[in-house]
Amino acid sequence: MNRHWLTTPLLFIFLLNTLTLSFYFLHQNPNPDPIPNFSSASALSNNLSGQRNPNFTAKPWPDLASFVPWTPNPSTSPSSCEAFFGHGFTRKLDLLSSERKSWFRCHYNEALKSSVCEGGLIRMIPQRIHMSNGGESLETVIGREEEDELPTFEPGAFEVEASDGAFRQINDGDRKIVNQDFLDRFVPRGAIYIHTMRSLLDSIRVADSKDFNCSELVEEPTLLITRFEYANLFHTVTDWYSAYVASRVTDLSHRPYLVFVDGHCKAPLEEAWKALFSSLRYAKNFTDPVCFRHVILSPLGYETALFKGLSDNIPCHGAPASDLMLNPDSDKTARLTEFGEFFRASFGFPLNNTKISHSSLQQNVLFVRREDYLAHPRHGGKVEPRLSNEQEVFDTLKTWAKAYNKCRVNIINGLFAHMTVRDQVRAIQEASIIVGAHGAGLTHIIAARPGTVILEIISSMYRRPHFSLISQWRGVEYHAINLEGSYANINQVLKELSSILKSLGC
Ligand SMILES: *[C@@H]1O[C@H](CO)[C@@H](O)[C@H](O)[C@H]1NC(C)=O
Ligand SMILES: *[C@@H]1O[C@H](CO)[C@@H](O)[C@H](O)[C@H]1NC(C)=O
Ligand SMILES: *[C@@H]1O[C@H](CO)[C@@H](O)[C@H](O)[C@H]1NC(C)=O
Ligand SMILES: *[C@@H]1O[C@H](CO)[C@@H](O)[C@H](O)[C@H]1NC(C)=O
Ligand SMILES: *[C@@H]1O[C@H](CO)[C@@H](O)[C@H](O)[C@H]1NC(C)=O
Ligand SMILES: *[C@@H]1O[C@H](CO)[C@@H](O)[C@H](O)[C@H]1NC(C)=O
Repeated sequence: MNRHWLTTPLLFIFLLNTLTLSFYFLHQNPNPDPIPNFSSASALSNNLSGQRNPNFTAKPWPDLASFVPWTPNPSTSPSSCEAFFGHGFTRKLDLLSSERKSWFRCHYNEALKSSVCEGGLIRMIPQRIHMSNGGESLETVIGREEEDELPTFEPGAFEVEASDGAFRQINDGDRKIVNQDFLDRFVPRGAIYIHTMRSLLDSIRVADSKDFNCSELVEEPTLLITRFEYANLFHTVTDWYSAYVASRVTDLSHRPYLVFVDGHCKAPLEEAWKALFSSLRYAKNFTDPVCFRHVILSPLGYETALFKGLSDNIPCHGAPASDLMLNPDSDKTARLTEFGEFFRASFGFPLNNTKISHSSLQQNVLFVRREDYLAHPRHGGKVEPRLSNEQEVFDTLKTWAKAYNKCRVNIINGLFAHMTVRDQVRAIQEASIIVGAHGAGLTHIIAARPGTVILEIISSMYRRPHFSLISQWRGVEYHAINLEGSYANINQVLKELSSILKSLGC
């Protein structure tokens, strides 16, 4: 058995520049271990004292019409749309390689400057994570500070195992598996002030086998998520997308379990987390140390192309997966469409990708409303008005639609803040035109059917690119009415809508 450990910075740099970076703790093994999968996990059973649930209950992935296999391709250019929206996590960094016990690796994406990390036999010690419990009902925690809800980690909040005396201490004997240099290179802080995933990685320590016991062993692959803006749909969609990408990059055979490593209270969007993935628990819901057979660290939503693309130029256009299969094009992507289908399928809707008919006799125009609701403990229950005469616009559209005689036009009242996420998704997929003032609810266009047309009404205070960009990346048609101030001229809205209806053959 060879034992190597890194002592010189020079060697460290050298290894960083090769494709695999290995800190060898136990056996020398240039090929990292295969990832334990569902059927083979029990074969890896060792003498952890915890109880095991032999029943694997994870949900299978739904069949997606636009699914393109997530195969790592080292030749994927960091400027290609696949690198931004799909599998750009092609640089594999093996940190802890072992034949039998804990292992750990990261997959770095040069385009996004972000890593999906994963490991096996990882122990979480909830007592070493400081944050509120999380999952409380909102009314019980009014006024709680955001800092109280974000985790801080003591050293050893997460641990990996190495056999008695077999590991060598690295990084000045602090038993860390990643050092500062690694974090700066592969999990850079970027513009994020409190980077919870970076702190989580920084807290991982190597523990001796004799100290490594668990009250519970979670066999199912589990995503660890640290959420920020858990009440806002746009930010939450970035988290969902990141979790989806992380699951695909690590080639999970089923949808993972989720553990929220944050202390946010219960929010309506939890419904969607549960629909998308296999199960959900808050980290503080585990009272004793818990071991995970396979954890995946989901990058912050801020590191997805959906968020980075708001400020960085990501000149990608959505295209049908079937076209890209025949004619690969690095300036196009079908990944957001694939994700939108995953989203719809997770709520049990049949995937209807029939393009909105251009001669249909009936068109559903979904008006996405902005309503007051209590979003989070520091919120006053009022949303900023962005279209001061929203009600007037809606009422006028309804009356106008009744009299419209070229085809039947239904104006749907999208009171999203008071609808289940499932009903929101249903409304989105039944719409052929989606109208709304700039607001997070419009992020749902990610799940719109091909051929849907978007009309955004933008007040002069909110000239932000979110929905024109999402439409572009998704490949759906987008129109905007830019207001002077926040009052919409009804005639202008009717004119724009009529012209869209006409273009739909109606
Ligand atoms: C998963 O388990 C099956 C059945 O034991 C095995 O054939 C397959 O090679 C395993 N895959 C991986 C990646 O370990
Ligand atoms: C634990 O498992 C290892 C490897 O399977 C074995 O060598 C060791 O004897 C076991 N220890 C105990 C206490 O069962
Ligand atoms: C596994 O599933 C079976 C059948 O549903 C059930 O009887 C058994 O109690 C389950 N075992 C555990 C540990 O949950
Ligand atoms: C295993 O954990 C239990 C309770 O968490 C503790 O009492 C015991 O000392 C631990 N064993 C070792 C060898 O650390
Ligand atoms: C964990 O969740 C269960 C089910 O919601 C709940 O009954 C239990 O009190 C929670 N435990 C802790 C420590 O939060
Ligand atoms: C799919 O949508 C099209 C257009 O709205 C509709 O004509 C068709 O019946 C739908 N198919 C299914 C299976 O729902």
